[in-house]
Amino acid sequence: MSKTAHNRFLILNGPNLNLLGVREPEMYGTVTLAEIEAQLAEKAMALGYEIDFRQTNHEGTLVDWVQEGGISAAGIIINGAGYTHTSVALHDAIAAIETPVIEVHLSNVYAREAYRHHSYISDVAAGVIIGFGAHGYILALDALASMLRNQS
Ligand code: DQA
Repeated sequence: MSKTAHNRFLILNGPNLNLLGVREPEMYGTVTLAEIEAQLAEKAMALGYEIDFRQTNHEGTLVDWVQEGGISAAGIIINGAGYTHTSVALHDAIAAIETPVIEVHLSNVYAREAYRHHSYISDVAAGVIIGFGAHGYILALDALASMLRNQS
């Protein structure tokens, strides 16, 4: 882990999450990704961390970012969105790094279509937070900070 990694969390968001706030609000709520980022930045600062918050619609970019986080972040929070249910490459990227990864989903995927019940990344994640809407990201941040506190 690099020296700069100790106080930095990488928050990764997958496809279509750029549309949060207008995308199926009955499912995902009306909070935008920018609002989630602002809430997280505030919470992270209170915990002594900074965040690097990103979104992409591209699977390979998510893989690149997970690899990058493996070198330069203290922890990763990821909402892989649709790629959660399809991406062996994302599984492999997370398996390849030692940085703890928390998987987050806004909606309760187990209360939805059967194809959302399987995640390719849960088995390589340190933990999974599902169904608490935007608050799930805050819970993940808390979980990462307390995991790292307990390790040191
Ligand atoms: C999601 C759940 C996924 O099944 C879906 O493809 C998403 C969002 C969530 O946050 O609830 O895009 O990851």
